[in-house]
Amino acid sequence: MAGIEMKNIVKKYGDGFPAVNDVSIDVEDGEFLILVGPSGCGKSTLLRMIVGLEDISGGDMMIGGKRVNDLAPRERNLSMVFQNYALYPHLTVYENIAFPLRLANKPESEIDQKVREASKTLELDEHLERKPGNLSGGQRQRVAMGRAIVRDAEAFLFDEPLSNLDAKLRGQMRTEISRLQKRLGITTVYVTHDQTEAMTLGDRVAVLKRGVLQQHATPRELYENPANLFVAGFIGSPPMNFLPAKVDGTRVELPFGTVTIPEDKARRAQGKGLLIAGIRPEHFEDASVVDSDKVTDDSTFTSQVDVVEWLGNEAYAYIPFEAPPEVEKQLQELERDLDGESLRTQMVVSLDGASRISEGDQATIWVDARKIHLFDPATGENLTMDADRAGIVPGGDAMAKAEQVGEKQDGVAQTEGTTA
Ligand SMILES: Nc1ncnc2c1ncn2[C@@H]1O[C@H](COP(=O)(O)OP(=O)(O)O)[C@@H](O)[C@H]1O
Ligand SMILES: [Mg+2]
Repeated sequence: MAGIEMKNIVKKYGDGFPAVNDVSIDVEDGEFLILVGPSGCGKSTLLRMIVGLEDISGGDMMIGGKRVNDLAPRERNLSMVFQNYALYPHLTVYENIAFPLRLANKPESEIDQKVREASKTLELDEHLERKPGNLSGGQRQRVAMGRAIVRDAEAFLFDEPLSNLDAKLRGQMRTEISRLQKRLGITTVYVTHDQTEAMTLGDRVAVLKRGVLQQHATPRELYENPANLFVAGFIGSPPMNFLPAKVDGTRVELPFGTVTIPEDKARRAQGKGLLIAGIRPEHFEDASVVDSDKVTDDSTFTSQVDVVEWLGNEAYAYIPFEAPPEVEKQLQELERDLDGESLRTQMVVSLDGASRISEGDQATIWVDARKIHLFDPATGENLTMDADRAGIVPGGDAMAKAEQVGEKQDGVAQTEGTTA
């Protein structure tokens, strides 16, 4: 096993497009790292550069302290677990696991010992004589991991291994991979575009946008202290609400009313003009079910509720709002960056299941003002981030690069649009 260190990694494809742009990530020995971001942000490219399936245009790729830029994939001794598991249908589970050892002409006794060891760890003992076609998805995944284990690989690499499965199986497999990784303690890099997988699997998560690292932190740090609008909007479901906000002292004026925020947060947002406030759905509540000592005039507002979705344990209430053009523009851009999964001209509020608020009501809503984030609409930067609890946030340079690439891409898309 070994740690993986990426130092200022760049990948430019033939047309000069920087698919990965100056990315530095340190994966510790035994750590489970998630690479996450929307489709096309460079996750697979980065993973393929770790394995050696893609040339590195710039920077140093270090595995176990050794520079591997010029080593062939097999010399790096990593194990890529593919999405389709790449098992041989005509071979038994035993032979599928043994495959890399047979290829390396290992003696029969060593093969048998390693296969049985792996099968025990993976709880595949009673399936060793079966063929992959008769196994469940989870069992097949374990066979694929077994093959990786017998090779004594330095690290496991996964590229969206669960994306073809239905939601229920995906949940089961997620737990399984997490349990196995902990038991084996093997350094793992796992690529996904799914924020739920990122939040539940990883020790730490690296968020990419257009080839540029945005933040590298634990799931909790990302959730509670996102570095910018992009990370804030990407992590969390339903996503964080973004609203126009004006700060005056400790008072924040929102479309629905004015709330008071803690002084240290307010100080960092003074004199910046129109800002974007970020509030997670669960930081709202039906004022009538909140402890009465928490409910003050400067923490509640009254608003017309458009739609209510009651789920039993909680309810989502939707409250439409209007944003001024400069905020609207930034939010539209954000939506595009995030692959536009959500509608942002309405606010989503998560209420206790006991709430009696229903559609069309003028509801009194409480907001936990301590949890409000304030973002600079020009740069997307989170002005209220607690830097001590935000993991690693690369400097402004890297962020500016992502913006430049974005502008270029937009230009290309437009030209294509007009000629088509
Ligand atoms: N072989 C290639 N040649 C040229 N461009 C590529 C190639 N592979 C990927 N790209 C581009 O690099 C960017 C990142 O792709 P990829 O790493 O596959 O993203 P992800 O895995 O995050 O969806 C995309 O814009 C994609 O079009
Ligand atoms: Mg990919």
